Amino acid sequence: MPKTTSPPPAAAGFKLRLQGLLDRLLRSDSADSVPLAAGQVPRHIAIIIDGNGRWAKERRLPRQAGHRAGATRLHDITAAAARQGVRYLTVYAFSTENWSRPSDEVGALMKLFVEFFHLYDERLREADVRLRFMGDRDALPADVQDTWAYAEAESRERQGLQLIIAFNYGGRQELVHAARRLAQEAASGRIDPGKITEEDIARNLYMPDVPDPDLVIRTSGEKRLSNFLIWEAAYAEFYATPVLWPDFDAAALLAAIQAYQQRDRRFGALAPDAATSAAPGAGGS
Ligand code: FPP
Repeated sequence: MPKTTSPPPAAAGFKLRLQGLLDRLLRSDSADSVPLAAGQVPRHIAIIIDGNGRWAKERRLPRQAGHRAGATRLHDITAAAARQGVRYLTVYAFSTENWSRPSDEVGALMKLFVEFFHLYDERLREADVRLRFMGDRDALPADVQDTWAYAEAESRERQGLQLIIAFNYGGRQELVHAARRLAQEAASGRIDPGKITEEDIARNLYMPDVPDPDLVIRTSGEKRLSNFLIWEAAYAEFYATPVLWPDFDAAALLAAIQAYQQRDRRFGALAPDAATSAAPGAGGS
């Protein structure tokens, strides 16, 4: 890891012990003890992480402890998703709206971003997990930017699951970013504005090579997209669970995958047996 992001040794030791405690508190199951899903597993799962604060409140702990437990859970769920055969896991870890939280909480989340990679760098390497990030990197503190660049460069050749962390991310902001790039292409004469297609927009998003999510999960009972992947999730299946993120374990992930497998994905078309008898009409599903 880059030197600029190393915490002083005493603080690092304390944090590792604290993390060890959290690991033991949270490890209600390990990825290996949960059966593999039978049937088709979503290639790309996206998760709106929610409920860290409530998890901490229930235990009379500071909110930061909830985020720390959430970071541990993120590592566990990455391992569980890889084992289930998921190829891409995108998580919403810090939204453009999260800047409006109290400054000490924002600061703690920035620190946690850097620490996450100190704590799990080796295990992620062993698991062949490729790390990628999406969001407005330029507005982040220097050590976060360094960690972001280092982790991406260092893991670029890995062939396992791709863990994509949306950090300082907003779906509308991503579309503005795409619109600006397209406007530049039009201004320089490389594209005809009247012929801009959905594919042109898609190739100017943050992760043009990553397939759209098949399944979007939101923890903690809320049922909103909250500006997450608003273009990419157009036809994703949505799964809301009351489980708070720090409690979302490998068994909970399997339950979400099994719920997804019960869905009938039609991408706006009719189910095969209805296609012959339906009257013409509009609407999608
Ligand atoms: C939402 O819970 C959670 C967040 C905004 C932060 C998510 C962060 C992590 C899981 C850890 C960071 C890990 C990395 C790698 C950056 P909330 O605080 O909104 O919960 P509440 O609704 O119960 O208050």
